Amino acid sequence: MLKIGLLGAGRIAGVHATAISSNPLSTLAAVSDYIPENAEELAAEYDCAARTTEEIIADKSIDAVLIATSTDTHSGLIEAATAAGKAVLCEKPVDLSLARARACQAAVAKTGKPVMIGFNRRFDPNFSTLRAALEAGEIGKPELLSITSFDPAPPPIAYIMVSGGLFRDMMIHDFDMANFLMGSAPESVSAVGSSIVDPEIGAAGDIDTAVVTLTYADGRIAVIKNSRRAVYGYDQRVELLGSKGLLQAQNMLENTVVKSTEAGVTSAKPTYFFLERYMPSYANEWGAFVQAIQTGTPVPVSLEDGVLALKMAEAAAQSVSEGRPVKLSEVAG
Ligand SMILES: NC(=O)c1ccc[n+]([C@@H]2O[C@H](COP(=O)([O-])OP(=O)(O)OC[C@H]3O[C@@H](n4cnc5c(N)ncnc54)[C@H](O)[C@@H]3O)[C@@H](O)[C@H]2O)c1
Repeated sequence: MLKIGLLGAGRIAGVHATAISSNPLSTLAAVSDYIPENAEELAAEYDCAARTTEEIIADKSIDAVLIATSTDTHSGLIEAATAAGKAVLCEKPVDLSLARARACQAAVAKTGKPVMIGFNRRFDPNFSTLRAALEAGEIGKPELLSITSFDPAPPPIAYIMVSGGLFRDMMIHDFDMANFLMGSAPESVSAVGSSIVDPEIGAAGDIDTAVVTLTYADGRIAVIKNSRRAVYGYDQRVELLGSKGLLQAQNMLENTVVKSTEAGVTSAKPTYFFLERYMPSYANEWGAFVQAIQTGTPVPVSLEDGVLALKMAEAAAQSVSEGRPVKLSEVAG
């Protein structure tokens, strides 16, 4: 049984607390938060201790920590936890700075401790089934990938201001999905982006609408479309064209009823947002982490995967600001 410390008691930490405590091979021992009342509330709900982050990291009886704190704390906490001998599952992104993420990678390498990055969409049953079909050779060689990822509504401006921008905060999931399905890093990244959903997002120096094209050394192409607004719900689709066929993962709908009348044919909307759409993925992600730690096998999403996605985000941001395709090899850090 793995004894777990949960760092952070915010929005996503609650989801992880459920996953940790419902897995038969892990137990939630303690939770911390910068705001002690947050930790106390979550600890009461899950019948565990509320402690400080430092106390959890120093506690030798705790085997692993799950880092669900604000993004700007991730790399520092990964370093502290691995130096204290703990295995880590850390929420995305590794950091907002590629150079800082690289320094974290170097520090972790010295400890030899496993660090998994929380790209939960790899564990979504739809996307993992799609990948299994790809791996089984059912569509031959993948040639053209298309990822649609639209949020239902933009977050508050206060969130945008500290998010690191659409590419590092939102599209980072899609960069990782492209890596998961294409099996290698792209050679170059070409991005266009604008702020047409909410002028305040533009005034804050960010974009809310973007299209990125990834090109691969062997000629394969991937296209990622992001928007911070889709009035009909959370639109999360993947389409992969291969030499022998096509794989598509469609949206999860609120219900499966299709209504056909004289007026037309209608169905329910997609589920509202990530908590509704991806809930099973968080439990699967945690199960995969626990299994890797217990069997001593590599974690299925590595720190290197997290750094690569961040590098692609930096290339996309550079492509928008310079108005040209950017090779990954050009990105410093
Ligand atoms: N994988 C996903 O689907 C997904 C979804 C949402 C958020 N996230 C990521 O999870 C992280 C947290 O996001 P959130 O939406 O839960 O934010 P949140 O603001 O709701 O929660 C973050 C919590 O961390 C606490 N905190 C900050 N520094 C701390 C420290 N040093 N020690 C302990 N607690 C500390 C804050 O007080 C806050 O309660 C972000 O990095 C975000 O990118 C991932």
